[in-house]
Amino acid sequence: MNLVKLSCLHHVEMPILGLGTFKLKGKDLMYKTLETALAAGYRSIDTAAVYRNESDIGDCLKELLPKFNLERKDIFITSKLGPKDQGKGKCKEACLRSIENLQTGYLDLYLIHWPGTQGKKPEDQSNIQQRQESWNDLEDLHKEGKLRAIGVSNYEQRHLEELLSTCSIPPAVLQIEFHPHLVQSSLVSFCKQHNIHFQAYSSLGTTSDDNKLLTDLTVADIAARYDKNPAQILLRWAIQQDIGVIPKSTNPTHIKENIDIFSFSLAESDMCKLSNLDSQHHYCWNPASVT
Ligand SMILES: NC(=O)c1ccc[n+]([C@@H]2O[C@H](COP(=O)([O-])OP(=O)(O)OC[C@H]3O[C@@H](n4cnc5c(N)ncnc54)[C@H](OP(=O)(O)O)[C@@H]3O)[C@@H](O)[C@H]2O)c1
Repeated sequence: MNLVKLSCLHHVEMPILGLGTFKLKGKDLMYKTLETALAAGYRSIDTAAVYRNESDIGDCLKELLPKFNLERKDIFITSKLGPKDQGKGKCKEACLRSIENLQTGYLDLYLIHWPGTQGKKPEDQSNIQQRQESWNDLEDLHKEGKLRAIGVSNYEQRHLEELLSTCSIPPAVLQIEFHPHLVQSSLVSFCKQHNIHFQAYSSLGTTSDDNKLLTDLTVADIAARYDKNPAQILLRWAIQQDIGVIPKSTNPTHIKENIDIFSFSLAESDMCKLSNLDSQHHYCWNPASVT
């Protein structure tokens, strides 16, 4: 598995591919999914307080790690601060609660999930102070070693600029929606320039009955030429740009397919064809209106 070295106080390397767990609930399904993923070679799991599955993940890992001869340090776990818990003290409490739920002693990466605070209007100026206070809490927990790396999610360039101008420890990761229908090239360049690892979410177009990305004709055409499936092409397109991916699946065949993206590469012309599909379309939430 390719590893990405994160810019932070500790020595931290994150697998470029992890398992997404949004909408993955229920201990039996979690157990089967994590068992298949660990057997296939996944070593990174992405969760969040708002997914309400941290305890299930914690319980399952407790049983599964010994089965695979793995220790806590062999697994990379990311969780995120729920938007209702922004602010001084609240953020710290929420983070410690996530660690307790996951039963892992520490987290490898913790992200501010959203630049705003739940219940506040997106244009409310106090969103700014609240997220800065949350970041200060994360810096303290990072120094203490409870959070090996810290970062943000759904921050646009202006949110990042504000954070970089006020923080004492810069964010190591930006996790944001990114796929050929939402390419975000200038944000990718900004992150490269500031040593912030860019991690994509919803690389496959989210969980939807009407998925417009997996059925895109250009993606399908490229997939047929490489004898791969559309999901593999979408994931390969991202990692070939050093962008992390966290595809979500509960289907054993898909889980295995999604990690089988390291033994082929896309020609530059196909990379461009995919990037040219950009329609600035968000399939998930859009942080544009948050002050
Ligand atoms: N920070 C944030 O605000 C944020 C927002 C959204 C997501 N995320 C994170 O990113 C992860 C991934 O994003 P996502 O959950 O939105 O969805 P996604 O990974 O873009 O797509 C998941 C969908 O694709 C299907 N799928 C997976 N592999 C496939 C394959 N090989 N062939 C065909 N279909 C396949 C899944 O169905 P099956 O289960 O049937 O395979 C599911 O319906 C989340 O789970 C979460 O961890 C973060």
